[in-house]
Amino acid sequence: MSVSSPSSSSAPAWPPTSSAGFPRIGSLPAYVFAQINAEKRERMDAGEDVIDLGMGNPDLGTPGHIVDELVAHAADPRHHRYSASRGIYGLREGMAEHYRDRYGVELDPETEVVVTIGAKEGIAHLMLAILGDGDTVLVPAPAYPIHTYSVVFAGGKVQTLPLADAGEGYVDADALFGAVEEACRTAESPPRVLLLSFPNNPTTLQAPAGFFERAVEVCLRNRLLLIHDFAYADFGFGEDPPSVLSVPGARDIAVEFFSMSKSYCMAGWRVGFCVGNPAMVGALTKIKSYLDYGIFQPIQIAAAHALRSGQECVGETREVYRRRAAALVGALATAGWDVAAPRATMFVWARIPQAFRAMSSIEFARHLLREANVVVSPGVGFGPEGEGHVRFALIEPESRLAEAGERIGRALARGPAED
Ligand SMILES: Cc1ncc(COP(=O)(O)O)c(C=O)c1O
Repeated sequence: MSVSSPSSSSAPAWPPTSSAGFPRIGSLPAYVFAQINAEKRERMDAGEDVIDLGMGNPDLGTPGHIVDELVAHAADPRHHRYSASRGIYGLREGMAEHYRDRYGVELDPETEVVVTIGAKEGIAHLMLAILGDGDTVLVPAPAYPIHTYSVVFAGGKVQTLPLADAGEGYVDADALFGAVEEACRTAESPPRVLLLSFPNNPTTLQAPAGFFERAVEVCLRNRLLLIHDFAYADFGFGEDPPSVLSVPGARDIAVEFFSMSKSYCMAGWRVGFCVGNPAMVGALTKIKSYLDYGIFQPIQIAAAHALRSGQECVGETREVYRRRAAALVGALATAGWDVAAPRATMFVWARIPQAFRAMSSIEFARHLLREANVVVSPGVGFGPEGEGHVRFALIEPESRLAEAGERIGRALARGPAED
């Protein structure tokens, strides 16, 4: 699939009557979840017990020692002024220490680390900073939506690549890198960027050993910049997910995004990082200096504290998701729906059961809502390549996941009756 930014030739209506009249906004697809969300809200308002496994929004609160650090600094008026858009030094240094301790990678907090308002903001603004009009970015799909739309917003073109399961929950590296080579050989203008993300949302696929060595080699040979979204860095249930920056030479062409949202259950706090290649980090730092004044300083101080304190809380969160994944997969199996246990992340990615495959992923998600009061994400929300699947986010306790499985089992047993 190829997704492009809008042409600016058609003049918007005057005066504007709808946001869709503006070329960049008009080029965005309809929000696939809108209809399901509206129906979910109606049911909840009517007092029904809806189990919402739609959005990957962590339910486990932020660990107490991190919250305490925020509270300790929140009232100090010195912290109520604008902060630094690239993040305070102590936080950038905390991230550099994290990479040294965890991956054996030395980063210069001044030139190789920038704080972002979450990984999502960072990816969007990095694309704006580094892409020229019409530049092509290679994105494996199905994809987390900002991987596609950051490119569209920045005036670039997305060329999607197949994201296939090689078995055991690993991505098919041969198919993926074969597609990268093919795209570089055949594209009208050479692609400029490869955007990867493993462990992967929504597919839960993990990068096998040696994957990033190969990625760096392919990128160097084809003059591609490499962006790695590492939002699920801490959620490998077997081996620890690898960082691209541990590969020698990666820093010449690659940056990695790390997020506090999932690892430290800090999704609402909005703290992420872009680390690695100084030219790309510098470009993002510069564009951010025009666009924002940095995150509320006590949040940055608390985030640095999270990185520098004991990391037991991260392991505990990982274990919660691992157990929840097992509970949901077990409950779905009992319901007659065989789904592979994820190797990583906080999701279960499930092919729509055979008897329901005539339905689109939106229709099937709506069916689960109406027949089981369970909300899931339709796969098409991650691009056409996600069609035929739904994604469960593991954001409810095991007992609720077991309940979801039982309700789904009853709904599946009734068959695909017309909604
Ligand atoms: C792959 C991926 N990247 C980035 C994000 C967002 O991260 P942040 O909260 O740091 O913006 C998510 C959230 O679901 C994600 O799945």
